[in-house]
Amino acid sequence: MCGIVGYIGKRQATPVLLKGLHRLEYRGYDSSGIATIAATGSLNLYKCKGKVSDLENFTEKKDVSGTIGIGHTRWATHGEPNDTNAHPHTSQSGSIVLIHNGIIENYTSIKENLKKRGHTFQSQTDTEVLVHLIEEIKTKDNLKLGHAVISALKQVVGAYAIAVLDKSNPNELIVAKKGSPLVIGVGDDEYFVASDASPIIEYTKNVVYLEDEQVGIIKREGELKIRNLKDKEVTPYVQALELELEAIEKGGYDHFMLKEIYEQPRSIRDSMRGRLNADKAVVQLGGIVDYEPKFLKAKRILIIACGTSWHAGLVAEYLFEEYARIPVEVEYASEFRYRNPIIYEDDIVIAISQSGETADTLAAIELAKSKGATIIGVCNVVGSSIARATHAGSYTHAGPEIGVASTKAFTAQVTVLTLMALHVAYKKGTLVESRYRQLLYELETIPEKVDKVLKLDNATKKIASVFKNARNFLYLGRGYSFPVALEGALKLKEISYIHAEGYPAAEMKHGPIALIDEEMPVVVIATKGANYEKVLSTIQEIKARKGKIIAVVNEGDKEVANSADYTIEIPETDESLVPLVSVVPLQLLSYHIAVMRGCNVDQPRNLAKSVTVE
Ligand code: G6P
Repeated sequence: MCGIVGYIGKRQATPVLLKGLHRLEYRGYDSSGIATIAATGSLNLYKCKGKVSDLENFTEKKDVSGTIGIGHTRWATHGEPNDTNAHPHTSQSGSIVLIHNGIIENYTSIKENLKKRGHTFQSQTDTEVLVHLIEEIKTKDNLKLGHAVISALKQVVGAYAIAVLDKSNPNELIVAKKGSPLVIGVGDDEYFVASDASPIIEYTKNVVYLEDEQVGIIKREGELKIRNLKDKEVTPYVQALELELEAIEKGGYDHFMLKEIYEQPRSIRDSMRGRLNADKAVVQLGGIVDYEPKFLKAKRILIIACGTSWHAGLVAEYLFEEYARIPVEVEYASEFRYRNPIIYEDDIVIAISQSGETADTLAAIELAKSKGATIIGVCNVVGSSIARATHAGSYTHAGPEIGVASTKAFTAQVTVLTLMALHVAYKKGTLVESRYRQLLYELETIPEKVDKVLKLDNATKKIASVFKNARNFLYLGRGYSFPVALEGALKLKEISYIHAEGYPAAEMKHGPIALIDEEMPVVVIATKGANYEKVLSTIQEIKARKGKIIAVVNEGDKEVANSADYTIEIPETDESLVPLVSVVPLQLLSYHIAVMRGCNVDQPRNLAKSVTVE
């Protein structure tokens, strides 16, 4: 939530900042702003409500010169999205300027004290309080900016990634982080700062990921110095970025979401690459190999996640229980962390997160860790906070996901969790080699099957055109298809703003059936498997009440086709692998409905890709 970017060097900062803000816009997009210090020493600060493109228009004819600058794109927490609450914020004298991603939880008490000492505030944000505090400390204790930042941050409770400038010193940029991500790009006599590496990639591949409670002191043409909040110097660890520029661009697609849906054959393959050898009946997950004995002894697995990642966790529950015979509980991280959960030392906790930055998931991990459980991460973003907070883990390797609604990250998570569950089951002896091998061979065919589903794009589009004006949707599935029903419904509401509910098909008669009439489209996942006949009965019940049925079936299915109004035929696979294939037409359906309704698919209202606040 919120994207921050900064630059100090020889170039003009503004083009770097604006381009960077476009790349970070997935993190928040209700307002944005930039500040640079011009060669004359004057501060150029512009901010406005709306998208980064609005800021671009706003600054077009203005003085945006300067070779040092910071920029911010906001997802509002404290104070509505408007010009005043947009970042950057300035100190009492107007000299110090700051951008912030995160939440200063104790800002009210700090603000009250500052007010008593004569400070006045323009905005309703927690951020403005911090920049006032920094200036007060700097002046009172006659400190350099970096030391004043350290001193102020010691008083702060909460999460932050910040970048700070002082108009009176255009040769220094200060950054700091705790709980929110911050990367520093190290170029030739220039430095870049950003919430993730995407704004940096085209300038340098050398980056330093700042750790929590570290402050970076970046001097023009000088070396990067890092100090922690105990004021001890830390040696920066410069690492090479593996990200490629094309991975974060649209590559000819209208939207990132569509590109990411289409990338799934590749991303699923990438999440299996080097890990799966069906001929030898081997799965190798290097990241968790040391924790294998714990897995084999585990009496229980807890899965913690939010949003789409939580749905991937539900699929994993079915897999681990069916094959490894380990009881699994799937928890919303936000509930888990506050309900005094029972956690045993021999529990395995799997934390699933695309971004690796979700605040609730991170806090739930810390809680489980404090009780002695073993934490295994399934993250997409390499080096992210969650990846670092876990004992071990397996990356999903889906590549950067920019569209706010998660698509390829979900299928990559399910792929990795499938590998994990099957491997543990085989090692435990609850899955015999012949079946293990059969499942691994089948898993290898999934990318081709997803490729075939993508060919149904036009057919899905036609169905979308029929239902684009529906006000409600119901999604039903059983067994492995229940989490897919939830995920299908989530996709639709996220990007088209149509109310949609996912339900286990058999539960329909305990409530949702009351909603069914000729106006209600019901998406039913009715692929072949143990519950096929039962789902057919559900379809009849919907039909009898004139509901409109869109059924996801296997190729050649006649029985469902006879009752359904529309069918989407997907290739057959093993029942336990169906989610990887059946979710794809639901992603496409949501995408087309959202486009037809004129919605902003990649940046849906009120959402953010990386939820770094509670
Ligand atoms: C946000 C995103 C969702 C995502 C959820 C969990 O709500 O919009 O797409 O599923 O956070 O994020 P994570 O990065 O932890 O998977």
